[in-house]
Amino acid sequence: MSESTPLLHLQGIDKRFPGVHALKGIDFELETEEIHALLGENGAGKSTLIKVLTGVHAADGGSICIEGRQIAPRNPNEAVTFGISTVYQEVNLAPNLSVAENICLGREPRNVFGIDWRAVGERTKSALNRVGLRVDPQRLVGDISIAEQQLVAIARALDVEAKVLILDEPTSSLDQDEVAQLFATLRRLREEGMGIIFVTHFLDQVYEISDRITVLRNGERIGTFQTDELPRIELVSHMIGRSAESLEHGAMASHEVSGHEPFLTVTNFGKRGSVQDLNFEIRSGEVIGLAGLLGSGRTETARLLFGIDHGTEGGYQLDNRSAHLTPRSAISRGVGLNVEDRKAEGIFPGLSIRENMVVVAQVKRRWWQRISTAEQKQVADEYVSALQLQPPNTDRNIENLSGGNQQKALLGRWLAVEPRLLLLDEPTRGIDIGAKFEIMALVERLRLEGKSFVFISSELSEVIRVSSRIVVLRDRRAVTTISRAEANEEAVVAAIAKHE
Ligand SMILES: Nc1ncnc2c1ncn2[C@@H]1O[C@H](COP(=O)(O)OP(=O)(O)OP(=O)(O)O)[C@@H](O)[C@H]1O
Ligand SMILES: [Mg+2]
Repeated sequence: MSESTPLLHLQGIDKRFPGVHALKGIDFELETEEIHALLGENGAGKSTLIKVLTGVHAADGGSICIEGRQIAPRNPNEAVTFGISTVYQEVNLAPNLSVAENICLGREPRNVFGIDWRAVGERTKSALNRVGLRVDPQRLVGDISIAEQQLVAIARALDVEAKVLILDEPTSSLDQDEVAQLFATLRRLREEGMGIIFVTHFLDQVYEISDRITVLRNGERIGTFQTDELPRIELVSHMIGRSAESLEHGAMASHEVSGHEPFLTVTNFGKRGSVQDLNFEIRSGEVIGLAGLLGSGRTETARLLFGIDHGTEGGYQLDNRSAHLTPRSAISRGVGLNVEDRKAEGIFPGLSIRENMVVVAQVKRRWWQRISTAEQKQVADEYVSALQLQPPNTDRNIENLSGGNQQKALLGRWLAVEPRLLLLDEPTRGIDIGAKFEIMALVERLRLEGKSFVFISSELSEVIRVSSRIVVLRDRRAVTTISRAEANEEAVVAAIAKHE
């Protein structure tokens, strides 16, 4: 780069947590009019670097300069006054407040009567316009979708005069149109002179939007690269520290399972106002993939099968008997659901990794048959190694895990009870490319042992890779089923997009 001062300059940033050297002397530069992708595997140190930069964590060493001036923000609000605005990986909005209140929270415009609600309304409108989100500003944030919440958080970050905008995995719950809209906003902000740091696990998006890439691995900076000069295969090798080819465990086996009766048969099943016309069977050793756009009814299908929601038409048979499951009876009959939103529905903050991992096992056993600590340890350790959870010490508070590792711990929770059928709703979201392959390989291994899965993922290539059959959902209806032999991206996309 030139000798001119970068917009943001981190030098020698060092950070230790008990037992983890999370950042080892990191140097990082961000220019004006730049979108800079910060990449690395789960636990590499991306979120920690951001939290040091924004005063959530105090660094143990190193310096931060903005436009050549050294700063030491003590908290995120102070970082905002230096022109650094952030959307954290764990979106922190107040679900009981309205969209408008969330956007202006803590910095409401005031007049002589107190909060100036008219100004709040106008500021909200312009912030929402900037991210291209159309929701009623008076709605409670808890009532809008995760994707919309994500956009509200971004609108909140843009509501201040920022020079640096930081987005930690902002697109993980957005659909294609929403991502396109967000990217249009980011390009506009870049043109206006902003520097943007963008953390993601979606490599397509990195190549679409970023100017430069910095890769972290194990708390070290591996390098900074011009995006258009870095072939994808090299990028992946930098991230994982081994060649990308070594990830592919060869072509997956065919999924012919003959001779088994289906143990789950779903017939014309659905719920009015939710998802309808579900028809499929699941045999032991099969993976049913659900494909469709965000909002097509994938999550709703999983909730119906697990008994969180109850059907109003049709029904399903489990072991040849018609079943009306509740989550508790589902668990005792060997059906599990790994949810998409790990923060709202998943982790128990404040409990250890181990306790979080045995919680379903405990529900299955009932409270009077306590699982001993020794037993807990054994179960947790087994899945920690199967999922390559980092760090492997299960006594630690689950909140201290990186986002992707929390996701793995949740999956371990379900694997620990060895369900016959596990419904996986976006199990690879927020998970790095190495771990994605590990999870798909694990599904395949368990499938060969006779376990069954319903696999939901926005990444079609994953669905195609693991599924025995793919049920395509469109507008909250199951519209067709594609066999493994016929499944390729073109065929599935065509089925998703087809107009009738
Ligand atoms: N508050 C904390 N206390 C203890 N250890 C922590 C804390 N926050 C992060 N760590 C550890 O620091 C390391 C880096 O974590 P970080 O959250 O920065 O990873 P990341 O690159 O953002 O990963 P992901 O892609 O999974 O979000 C990990 O080993 C993590 O367990
Ligand atoms: Mg992170």
